[in-house]
Amino acid sequence: MTFLKTLMLTSLKILTLMTTATLMATATLTTPAFADSLYEDLGGLEKIERFTARLVDLTFTDPRTAHQFKQTKKDRLTKLLVDQFCELSGGPCAYKGVNMKKSHIKLGITEREFNALVEQLQQAMDEEDIPFHTQNRLLALLAPMKKDIVER
Ligand code: HEM
Repeated sequence: MTFLKTLMLTSLKILTLMTTATLMATATLTTPAFADSLYEDLGGLEKIERFTARLVDLTFTDPRTAHQFKQTKKDRLTKLLVDQFCELSGGPCAYKGVNMKKSHIKLGITEREFNALVEQLQQAMDEEDIPFHTQNRLLALLAPMKKDIVER
């Protein structure tokens, strides 16, 4: 191989490496932090808004839970839940509500009521065709809240 050929090949290799490095750096800069997150798997904000609205409809009408929400402003609760689910799942939202202990204190929420709400959430996600294992990943993030919500 002539010296010129070797030089050209080496330059080409360096150029390829530089291009790859640039592409990787660009990808890191432009890929949002929530890519590959549960948030994405749930279908992003649009789907979270849809299944949360459905969850609240079910919660407000199901006789197992409706009595708890007689004083509650539906739109406000829906917005807070959307922000909570979005943030928990790694999405670009910030929950600005009260913590779970404070917001459920003195409501006397039973385990049966808690389980009913979980069932309503599963139904709402089912209706949006969210896969079972994705549903379970969200439920696993909510499970530790049970101790702060259930009183009896
Ligand atoms: C994992 C389960 C649950 C989650 C993630 C959850 C989440 C929330 C959130 C984010 C709020 C709003 C807090 C605020 O006002 O800043 C809230 C309020 C409330 N939740 Fe829950 N909750 C759960 C279970 C339950 C259950 C089982 C009941 C009763 C059946 C219930 C009844 C209420 C009521 C009555 C309020 C007060 C709404 C108001 O201010 O009028 N929650 N919850």
